[in-house]
Amino acid sequence: MKFLILNGPNLNLLGQREPGVYGTESYEGLCQRLQKFAAAHGSTADCVQSNHEGAIIDAIHAAQGVYDAIVINPGAFTHYSYAILDALKAVSVPAIEVHISNVHTREEFRHKSVTAPACVGQVCGLGLFGYEAAMGYFLEGGK
Ligand code: DQA
Repeated sequence: MKFLILNGPNLNLLGQREPGVYGTESYEGLCQRLQKFAAAHGSTADCVQSNHEGAIIDAIHAAQGVYDAIVINPGAFTHYSYAILDALKAVSVPAIEVHISNVHTREEFRHKSVTAPACVGQVCGLGLFGYEAAMGYFLEGGK
């Protein structure tokens, strides 16, 4: 399978940013881990990160016909980007939303995802393993 791993704002600072919440692994380390995981399953994972809403939308559009699945952590856009919701709905590539932290134990504004309704499902609170859990779903034939 061909995976697009799409990370939104501030996730480039993984490892430095609030390590008590997001852990000490870097963004580069996350990408290497997911590429290794994909390769071990005869697959590929391209990692894209942007702090800009439009760039994330462009990446979703460009995934059409190129990738089999999207694993997306929209960061704070999760909570208010109707444009990312619409982009996910505009393509036929299935997506799973991932959050490293358990958003439900955090501030009220993080409890709501406006983007999740366009996804097959959502994984949260499992740390970086959540990305592999999402990939595993598709690798096992989930649609
Ligand atoms: C996050 C949770 C969001 O609320 C936050 O804005 C992030 C990261 C997570 O992975 O836990 O940037 O998506």
